Amino acid sequence: MPVQYYPLKVIKKEFETEKTCSFYFEVPEQHKALFTYKTAQFLTFRFLIEGKEYVRSYSIASSPFLEESLRTTVGQVKDGIVSNYLLSHIKEGDQIESQAPLGEFFQLPKSLKSKDFILFSAGIGITPLFSILKTALSAHLANKVYLIFSISNLNHWIYQKELKLLEEQFKEQLIIKLILSQKEGRLDNKKLQQILETLNLKESLFYLCGPKDYMKMISECLLKSEVKKEHIHTEDFKIIPQRGPKPDENSVFFNANQAPSAEPKILKTTLNGEILEIPLNREKSLLEQLIDQGYNPPFSCTSGSCMTCMAKLKEGKVFQLEEGILDEENIKNLEILTCQCYPLSETVSIDYDNL
Ligand SMILES: Cc1cc2nc3c(=O)[nH]c(=O)nc-3n(C[C@H](O)[C@H](O)[C@H](O)COP(=O)(O)OP(=O)(O)OC[C@H]3O[C@@H](n4cnc5c(N)ncnc54)[C@H](O)[C@@H]3O)c2cc1C
Ligand code: FES
Repeated sequence: MPVQYYPLKVIKKEFETEKTCSFYFEVPEQHKALFTYKTAQFLTFRFLIEGKEYVRSYSIASSPFLEESLRTTVGQVKDGIVSNYLLSHIKEGDQIESQAPLGEFFQLPKSLKSKDFILFSAGIGITPLFSILKTALSAHLANKVYLIFSISNLNHWIYQKELKLLEEQFKEQLIIKLILSQKEGRLDNKKLQQILETLNLKESLFYLCGPKDYMKMISECLLKSEVKKEHIHTEDFKIIPQRGPKPDENSVFFNANQAPSAEPKILKTTLNGEILEIPLNREKSLLEQLIDQGYNPPFSCTSGSCMTCMAKLKEGKVFQLEEGILDEENIKNLEILTCQCYPLSETVSIDYDNL
């Protein structure tokens, strides 16, 4: 089914820092049920900018446990098309087209027994963690909530006022530690170890959002400290687009090993009951190639976070940049995320309809 977009009205636009801005939305009455969201999910917006369509995802910073408007916060990316457009062009009263909320970042173990929540964020990565923090405190999910927030200096402290108020309100429960990289250097293994020594690692759930290397360093350190893998959750904004990709150690191969066997030529696709055949190249993801040819395959985040673009690989070899949201069962069944997959054989055949 083609992805649906719904209009959301911007009811408030407020700069958090010089380069980050919150947008609050009103959801039309008839779509309220669709926009009932889970903590730390994301919205995917579609924009037409200078005649070209752009689709980008933004995490929800509000908590569904509080009576607050649906809110996202956007950080300006240098030379970024949509983030700059949002910050400079979108104003209160405008309508933005959005898909219904998606995402599974906020996961809780079935038997949640007085766990601490430990939230690691860097820069704009705070947005989904702000939602988790508010949910954890207001729904009394966590024993204690630690926010370890890396920013370059105090001028970049997103949600400063609200976090200070929450710290005041939940004195016994919320502990905020800022890491000001311009003053004390970035979070590194040594600093991390010092922080971890003060925490009850075995009785904690970890939520991480920030640059890839930052999350990798923290995850590796936690795993070495015997934190269970299922207690570590990460959200990757993947801000730098990958062009002309090559597989690396994080890639998943389907019907293939490292080496491409032939120059890609044909992509056969079953989509909405039709069988399509388009030329294929190795520079773009399968999803991008279908869109470039004027088709309307399903997609949302374009970053391996949502499963909307999933198809079954029927023939040929592909690699996926990273496992993304797939589990072992998906991989065994050759269920691929087409936004992350690149061809390795002459012909690739995929099916969106019969998963
Ligand atoms: C699940 C999810 C949640 C997210 N949540 C948030 C959030 O809460 N807040 C937030 O601010 N962002 C969030 N993002 C990121 C957001 O979706 C956008 O990626 C971000 O705003 C940048 O988009 P842009 O259009 O401004 O930049 P783009 O135009 O996509 O460019 C991004 C960067 O890549 C560079 N670039 C562009 N084209 C090329 C090229 N061909 N070769 C090399 N480099 C290039 C640009 O110079 C720029 O530095 C999230 C992403 C995901 C997937
Ligand atoms: S579009 Fe979200 S995983 Fe591909």
